[in-house]
Amino acid sequence: MSKNFYVTTPIYYVNGDPHVGSAYTTIAADVIAKYKKSMGYDVFFLTGTDEHGQKVEEAAKDRGLTPQEWTDSMAPRFLDMWKALDINQTDFIRTTQERHKDAVKKILKVVHDKGDIYKGEYEGKYCVSCETFVPENQIVNEKHCPDCGKELRIVKEESYFFKMSKYQDALLEHIEANPDFILPHSRKNEVTSFIKQGLQDLSISRNTFEWGIPIEFAEGHITYVWFDALTNYLTAVGYENNPELFDKFWNNGEVVHLLGKDILRFHAIIWPCMLLSAGEKLPDKIVAHGWWTSQGEKMSKSKGNVVAPLDEVKKYGVDAFRYCLMREVNFGNDGDYSTPSIVTRINSDLANDLGNLLNRTLGMYGKYFNSTIVKGDKFEPLDESVKTLWDETLENVDSHMSKLEFSKALEAIWKFISRMNKYVDETAPWLLIKDESTLERLGTVMNFLVQALYKVAVLTAPYMPTASQKIWNQLGVTKNIMEAQIEDVKGWNLLPVGHILGNAEPIFPRLETEKKAPKKDPMAINEDLEVENPIEISDFDKVDIQVVEILEVSNIEGADKLLKFKVKTGKEVRQIVSGIAKYYSNPEELVGKKVLAILNLSAVTLKGVLSQGMLLSSSEKKKLKLVEIDSSVKIGAKIK
Ligand code: ME8
Ligand code: MG
Repeated sequence: MSKNFYVTTPIYYVNGDPHVGSAYTTIAADVIAKYKKSMGYDVFFLTGTDEHGQKVEEAAKDRGLTPQEWTDSMAPRFLDMWKALDINQTDFIRTTQERHKDAVKKILKVVHDKGDIYKGEYEGKYCVSCETFVPENQIVNEKHCPDCGKELRIVKEESYFFKMSKYQDALLEHIEANPDFILPHSRKNEVTSFIKQGLQDLSISRNTFEWGIPIEFAEGHITYVWFDALTNYLTAVGYENNPELFDKFWNNGEVVHLLGKDILRFHAIIWPCMLLSAGEKLPDKIVAHGWWTSQGEKMSKSKGNVVAPLDEVKKYGVDAFRYCLMREVNFGNDGDYSTPSIVTRINSDLANDLGNLLNRTLGMYGKYFNSTIVKGDKFEPLDESVKTLWDETLENVDSHMSKLEFSKALEAIWKFISRMNKYVDETAPWLLIKDESTLERLGTVMNFLVQALYKVAVLTAPYMPTASQKIWNQLGVTKNIMEAQIEDVKGWNLLPVGHILGNAEPIFPRLETEKKAPKKDPMAINEDLEVENPIEISDFDKVDIQVVEILEVSNIEGADKLLKFKVKTGKEVRQIVSGIAKYYSNPEELVGKKVLAILNLSAVTLKGVLSQGMLLSSSEKKKLKLVEIDSSVKIGAKIK
């Protein structure tokens, strides 16, 4: 079997910056590309940008740019991002490139010549955001796209149609005959049941705007953007301009498309029908991954919760970011991006498990043998059992990788790493060093450990290229780990006697876990205080509170809760009734005291007695006490 491997990501719309979603697919493609290389495959890894269509045309117009100027300004942002994420695509395609226009013209001609395109009229709903025609039977909410929720437009225009319905049965047969055509397997039913509802012919031309690839046999029409975009997968491997390359990677390669579940139907239905019509081989695997949310919510600019990959890289480093994305969720499942789980993941898997193993091993080798590889290859049954686990690890990793089960592959690698940590505890090199008779065993054990690390780094390299290279460097190996072949690290005699190991330095520094809320200083001012029932100062200003002097106090007959006061204000003498009798057994003592009174309350009559204001009391555990004020304050002083 030829060992050619062709992997693609969707080509991304240029209307926004790449974010954690597009980074996810692209990192996944990069990981499988790097892994396949390490398995000895010739790999072609394609990503790029989708630059035509109504959505792009309108976005450019909004910014006062031509569509070409707009896409020219955006495409480099994708290239820069991929570079920052250690992604090494073989090719970056832009659908505005001439080579792509040529390829689209070619496939249109082939399909047209086959008799699979006819002229008609499209009348119905269109979602510009998804660039998709939405048939009536899929519309749930009359005005809105069932996928993205944006408002649908009504389109009525002359259009050329692709006879997709003609390929319905052939496609169903292909899906049945090739169980791995749609991955994960759980997605297959969704596709087949959709096809079984009956495929409609697809409108593949538009003629009410300009930004697209003209159709030679259809004056005034441009190619529907999805027909254009899907063709990119052929363009890049030389469909129109490089028969040798095309033969190698399309016809004789394993072709794997990675994409999000949002666009599975385009890839698993429209695309294969196009290829069937064009007489080309179908891709081998169409792999749909799940959807990332951020803190439990759909990411959106308006919510401000879009995860920007570069921010994450700044916080955690590129390797940890790549590792966490691939490890946190199974490739087909949805995932939620949240800081605490990322931090836990980094600390436990990277800092503790892998980082510590490297550190301990190099530290001991330094101390016991001055960092120089000694003779020692008398393997014992314990070592042999770990070797067996390594062989199993390689097999498991390969089987998971071939199904794009990244997190499971990582689980398998980490199972081996944990085993090695346990091996350190079991062999206890710090005891072996104590006795002359166990020194030979110590050499074997320590060699076993450094070799295991050397091998593990080759398996982690597709996920964490920079960190894995650092592991090699610390082991004193300066070769480029990206060139490493898994075949070459199958043995256990990889570092020769006399080889000098490097120094251990932490590759994955431990991160602070979620900062605990600092203990409250009881005397500190609470700056985030929330006030109940707040009022404005103007509300307070309405209340006229003044210092008054109590001239007389008396009980009121028939109202044993009330006291009647005669008070002197700044201007006059008033009578005020107050419900505080039960708190003052000897009210006379209040005479002569200066207290506070509200003077602009409307007068009322309580139990038949006139009250011209209110005395202020403090209230504590249902006990009231008049608010007394220093006798030096003048009667009539205002409280502000
Ligand atoms: O659909 N979670 O482009 P696009 C996971 N141009 N993946 C996500 C994601 C999220 N929240 N958001 C985006 C298009 N993605 C077309 C493709 S291909 C011939 C044409 C990823 O910019 C995921 O891979 O909307 C998804 O399929 C893709 O970005 C959609 O990118
Ligand atoms: Mg999209």
